[in-house]
Amino acid sequence: MGRAILILSGKGGTGKTTMSTSLALALAQMGRSVLIFDGDVGLRCCDLLMGMEDLIVYDAGDVLEGRCTLTEAATAHPKCGRLRLLSAPQMATPGDVSKKAVSSLIEEAKASYDYIFIDCPAGVGRGLKNVWQAADDAILVATPDDASLRAAERVSSLLFERRQLHASLLLNRIDRFLIHVKEEKRPGIIAAQLDLPLIGGIPESYDVYRGILMHKTALECDCGSVRRAVRRVAKRLDGKDIPFPHFYKAQNQF
Ligand SMILES: Nc1ncnc2c1ncn2[C@@H]1O[C@H](COP(=O)(O)OP(=O)(O)OP(=O)(O)O)[C@@H](O)[C@H]1O
Ligand SMILES: [Mg+2]
Repeated sequence: MGRAILILSGKGGTGKTTMSTSLALALAQMGRSVLIFDGDVGLRCCDLLMGMEDLIVYDAGDVLEGRCTLTEAATAHPKCGRLRLLSAPQMATPGDVSKKAVSSLIEEAKASYDYIFIDCPAGVGRGLKNVWQAADDAILVATPDDASLRAAERVSSLLFERRQLHASLLLNRIDRFLIHVKEEKRPGIIAAQLDLPLIGGIPESYDVYRGILMHKTALECDCGSVRRAVRRVAKRLDGKDIPFPHFYKAQNQF
């Protein structure tokens, strides 16, 4: 039975889609079968970030309305067949989708895949509530600025309400130099403040944005430290004990 992992955030634009697509590809390259479930109904973009926009025939709406099966709608990644994408319906709103039907679709996917990454819209609205019930894990993606962290705090308190959901924090766009000059908090301190275990940190890099312009995931971008950081997170998700870089730590942590 696979694990369904929500990728969510408080504030928009923290890097949820960048992380969902990159972590999914990293795990698929490690030999796992992975489905990306684009949960951003009406605003989908996983297909664009993965260079798959011309390959999508059916989406989750077609499965929910019985026009095709999950297997027919789950489109294989052109370079890695173990990774598949189930696109969100583009012409619908989150309110058009039945929570119960989406939950059964995710449950059905768990029987065929090791991991299902659910790329959620930002915040705690209907879009998140549609997919919430079927999830086993949640990764809260935040950036180290106070506006993102304040919004992350709201989501983190919501995560505590569902005790059985295994939640963790992924800090994106961290800047080692700014941490060194003490203008940015260390990831370990932020995780302690949000009371969430840290699953990893991804460096800020111009190459991530350049990759997106070319419809490539962060795992395929030109920045080696981003690619290594993504792989470390994927391995931790897969149960491996991967140490954190030293500069992440507050004193006496980890
Ligand atoms: N580590 C990074 N370094 C530099 N830029 C990044 C990094 N991660 C993401 N970005 C950029 O941030 C922008 C937003 O990323 P993304 O679309 O993944 O966010 P999101 O959380 O999915 O947004 P939304 O809330 O709208 O769904 C993109 O332009 C992306 O290239
Ligand atoms: Mg997104």
